[in-house]
Amino acid sequence: MQLNPLESRGALAIAACNSGLSFAERVIKELCIIAKKEGEKLESRLRDTQEIVFPNGEVKVVINEFIRGDDFYIIQCIDDPLSDRSVNDNLMALITAIHAAYQSDPDHITAVIPQFPYARQERRKTREAISAKLVAKFLEDAGAQRVLTLDIHAEAIQGFFSYTKLEDMHASREIKNYLLNTLKLDIKNLVVTGPDVGSAEKARHYSKRLGTSFAIVDKARDYSKPGEVESMRLVGDVKDKNVLIVDDMIATGGTMIHAAKLLKENGAKDIIVAVSLPFFNGNAVEKIERAYQEEIIKMVIGTDAVFWGESFVQNTEWYQEVTVAPLFARVIYNINRKRSVSQLLR
Ligand code: R5P
Repeated sequence: MQLNPLESRGALAIAACNSGLSFAERVIKELCIIAKKEGEKLESRLRDTQEIVFPNGEVKVVINEFIRGDDFYIIQCIDDPLSDRSVNDNLMALITAIHAAYQSDPDHITAVIPQFPYARQERRKTREAISAKLVAKFLEDAGAQRVLTLDIHAEAIQGFFSYTKLEDMHASREIKNYLLNTLKLDIKNLVVTGPDVGSAEKARHYSKRLGTSFAIVDKARDYSKPGEVESMRLVGDVKDKNVLIVDDMIATGGTMIHAAKLLKENGAKDIIVAVSLPFFNGNAVEKIERAYQEEIIKMVIGTDAVFWGESFVQNTEWYQEVTVAPLFARVIYNINRKRSVSQLLR
């Protein structure tokens, strides 16, 4: 089928930095499925790029083919548990890839970053940087005209961009489908909560969609010690109920495990945790394993926006993975075809 140029941007071209490769392959597979359903044919290959790391640690991404006039998407998963590259290494690789694209004159450049780095440094509490704003500026200055991300920690980060459009997608529909259709969760005896007030809006959203009651865990942090939780209180009734804890991410696991313990102390039965970004930093996996063995939590559901690999998923009894690749593929496809994406972003 011949595309009407007024109905689409340039040719869809997908590339990836090294840590974005496996997610990009899943996205492009889904894009081909969508295109086939629409009676079109898409090239099922990623654009040829090369990530070069110099002996001093500097990095650059080179685009090895012609992309002039294309609608260009560069995918990077910045916190990649399967690589020894740091968040900063991967962010820098992305910046060089965006700028390499900018030099190559595509029609449009979109950075696809399921994990927005430094999103928890979005406001100042003492003499410190507003690092999320710096990241927004890097992306914009490098040449990204649009950024696609997933469940950004603070929506206000949208305002850190002057010209670049930020599209924040949500994994809640995929997770809700998994809970209802795959897990066949009994929602009659379920309460939804977030592990802190920051996640209360997300918990309210899930509880509305699932038709359950809702509780709030109020967490106070000790900001003098990174990752330390000071105290927690529960508002709501969870006695003899199963509980779903929802959050944007698990980093060290401290917040989630503290909340689960508090819920158990208040009489909760089974506790399931669902997050968009299962970073499991530091010794989070060991901590969660212990909480699972002690029957504090029953299951953690995460998405492949942070990809732990098939063997981790198969061998970790408490972990279930939901893919968000079809969601990203649909949003990319609709953007390329100049169709609405607002329904998909909710
Ligand atoms: C906090 O506001 C976030 O939504 C997460 O709850 C938090 O970042 C998780 O961190 P950790 O797993 O290290 O407690």
